[in-house]
Amino acid sequence: MSKKKIIITGGAGFIGSHVIRRFVNNYPDYNIINLDKLTYAGNLENLRDVEKKSNYSFVKGDITDREFILSFIEKEQPDGIIHLAAESHVDRSIRNPMEFLLTNIVGTVNLLDAVRETWKDNFDGKLFYHISTDEVYGSLGDTGFFLEDTPYDPQSPYSASKASSDHFVRAYRNTFGLPVVISNCSNNYGPNQFPEKLLPLMINNIRSSKPLPIYGKGENIRDWLYVEDHASAIDVIYHQGKTGDTYNIGGDNEWKNIDLVKLLCEIMDQKLKRLSGTAEKLITYVTDRAGHDMRYAIDASKLKNELNWSPSLTFEVGLEKTVDWYMANEEWLENVTSGQYKKYYDAYYSS
Ligand code: NAD
Ligand code: TYD
Repeated sequence: MSKKKIIITGGAGFIGSHVIRRFVNNYPDYNIINLDKLTYAGNLENLRDVEKKSNYSFVKGDITDREFILSFIEKEQPDGIIHLAAESHVDRSIRNPMEFLLTNIVGTVNLLDAVRETWKDNFDGKLFYHISTDEVYGSLGDTGFFLEDTPYDPQSPYSASKASSDHFVRAYRNTFGLPVVISNCSNNYGPNQFPEKLLPLMINNIRSSKPLPIYGKGENIRDWLYVEDHASAIDVIYHQGKTGDTYNIGGDNEWKNIDLVKLLCEIMDQKLKRLSGTAEKLITYVTDRAGHDMRYAIDASKLKNELNWSPSLTFEVGLEKTVDWYMANEEWLENVTSGQYKKYYDAYYSS
């Protein structure tokens, strides 16, 4: 299979930047095009180390702009699309569902139509790889895991928009024979994540001694995966995944929010050479998120058994690497929460 010219959408964002770095470095004979609108979450600083490589280029563009997407894909004639561009934060989706509908659903359908028109019926060596979330499956109780055939039951505007986009991708496979693959991953953590998501938000607030807002009682559970391990799974699925299939990706690493934040507090106290217990005093219980999903947990055995993937890092190592990265990149944190980005950050986290 060739699949050599790949458009990666959302490549300037958190996960996309790690996927771009991996593909650019590991596949020098590929031509990797990063298509990104550069919203508040997209930041070309995330890609400084690869931007001069000859197999990489960046195009600023909006996937909701149908005319642009149709002509861009036709012009580039890509072999593959790895589609990550999305509005990705649940709290923002509660405030502004329409933006999520437009980017996550309409944007995805624009891309599907564009490859369909460009590839015509010649799908040899072609692949549309849609990156999705475990949140489409809804919320678990104390037991059980999400499997690839767990019925969809999205609960937030974000997960409803992602679920809808997954359905469109499968519908295009079923109706038009488009070669597609989908993966649904658990919560990612690591460098380059905008400090609106739990871990970078807490790290940012601990460093500036601001309150650490815990929604509800902090008993909600998430399964955490280091972002580079998500990128390695995407690499494996892109190259070896079975067309038409879905793969769940997870870290087998469930944490109650409050336990995770307390662990982070301990690590940060040590790193900042503060007295043990200093950061924990910042923990502040706040009003729960509306419709807050209780527990997510992934069964990733299909990916492990069929494609021989497994995470490379333990959580202890991943968390330490993550904290070290944010501490060494305070300027990055300052930049993404100030200047043109300040209003996006303040709209949520000005307290
Ligand atoms: P992110 O918010 O950090 O990045 C999203 C990127 O998409 C940004 O670079 C942004 O500029 C770009 N973008 C947004 N709207 C666009 C538009 N209209 N046109 C072009 N580009 C646009 O998101 P992330 O956390 O890196 O997530 C990437 C993908 O992975 C998303 O599809 C998300 O649903 C999925 N996912 C995320 C997680 C997670 O824990 N973060 C877990 C599973 C799946
Ligand atoms: P988040 O990082 O927003 O990811 P998601 O909602 O997609 O799982 O949140 C992770 C968990 O942390 C979730 O249960 C909500 C909770 N949370 C807080 O308690 N406080 C916060 O400030 C944030 C951002 C999240």
